[in-house]
Amino acid sequence: MKLTEDDISRVCRLVDELSGIQWDASKTYLIETRLPGLLREHQCATLAELVAKVRSGTDPRVRAAFIDAITTRETLFFRDESPFEALKHKALPEIIDAKAGTPFARRLRLWSAACSSGQEPYSLGIVLRELIDDLDDWDVQILATDISPAALAAASKGVYSDFEVSRGLSPHLRDRYFTKVPGGWKISDEIRALVCFDNRNLLKPFGTLGSFDVIFCRNVAIYFDAPVKRDLFERLAGVLAPHGTLFVGSSENLSTFGERWKPQYHCRGVFYQPNRRPPATPNPAATARPALSTTSFRGVASR
Ligand SMILES: C[S@@+](CC[C@H](N)C(=O)[O-])C[C@H]1O[C@@H](n2cnc3c(N)ncnc32)[C@H](O)[C@@H]1O
Repeated sequence: MKLTEDDISRVCRLVDELSGIQWDASKTYLIETRLPGLLREHQCATLAELVAKVRSGTDPRVRAAFIDAITTRETLFFRDESPFEALKHKALPEIIDAKAGTPFARRLRLWSAACSSGQEPYSLGIVLRELIDDLDDWDVQILATDISPAALAAASKGVYSDFEVSRGLSPHLRDRYFTKVPGGWKISDEIRALVCFDNRNLLKPFGTLGSFDVIFCRNVAIYFDAPVKRDLFERLAGVLAPHGTLFVGSSENLSTFGERWKPQYHCRGVFYQPNRRPPATPNPAATARPALSTTSFRGVASR
C-alpha cells in the first residue's frame, strides 16, 4: 500500500476523533497492516474514500469495521495477577465492610471499562464467586463496555480457545468455571449471568451509568493523549462510590495527576481512591472570569 502524507494525517485524524487513540506517522505500519482488508471489503479504491465513507456514517458497518481495525484488543484472564489479588484480599473486603449496615450492604457494582473480549470482566466475576460464598443472595452487576463491536461480540459469546484459557487461568479455575465446547471453552452461566455488556466510547459522557464500587480501566488510556487521559480519570472519579476503587494498567501511574488519586497497596498490587475535593467556597472575586479548568474540560468534552 502506497501512503501519502495526506493519507496518513487523514487516517490519524479520524482515528483520534472516533476513539481518542493517538496514531501518527510512526504508526504507519498499523495503517499498512490493518486497513487494506477494509478497503477491499467495503469497495473503496483509496484510503481517502474509506475515510469519507466512515465519516459520512451512511453505512454503520463500515464505521464498526474501522473501529475494530484500529483498536488493539490484547488481553488475558487475570492480567498482571496482582490487581486481582489486591481486589480479592484488600479492596473488596474493605468495600464490603464500608457498606455493612447501609441499605446497600449486599450490592456490588463493578465496571470493566474497555473490556476487550471479556477476559477482564469474567476474571472479576470469578474473583467475586471465589470470595463470596452466598453470592447468589447478593445484588451484583459487572458492567463491561468497549468501543469495539467485535470485542463485545466475542466477550458476550464467552467462548475461548485452548490458547486463550491457557493465558492467566489455572487448570483448577478453568475446570471450575468453563465447560469444554466445540471450538473451545465456554464461560459458565454462573459467571456469565453477572456480566452485562454495552458498546461505549470512553470519550463520551457517561450519562446515567450510576456509581461503581470498583472500576477496572486498564490498558486503554495508554492510547490517549494527556488532556483526554486527565478528563477520563476525572470523570471516572465522578462515578466512583465514596469507598470506590479504581484499578489501572501496570504501566499506568496516576501520580501524574498530583494529589488527586491516593494509591493503596496490597503486596505488588496497587489501586486508587480519589481524594475528595473540599466543597467549593464561593469567591466573589473569581466569578468575573471563567475558571481555567472549565475551559480545558470543554475542549476535551467536545470531541
Ligand atoms: C489493550 S485492550 C485492554 C483490555 C483490558 N482492559 C485489559 O487490560 O486486558 C484495550 C481496549 O480498549 C478499547 N478501546 C480503545 N479506545 C476506546 C474508547 N475510546 N472507548 C472504549 N474502549 C476503547 C479497545 O477496543 C480494546 O478492547
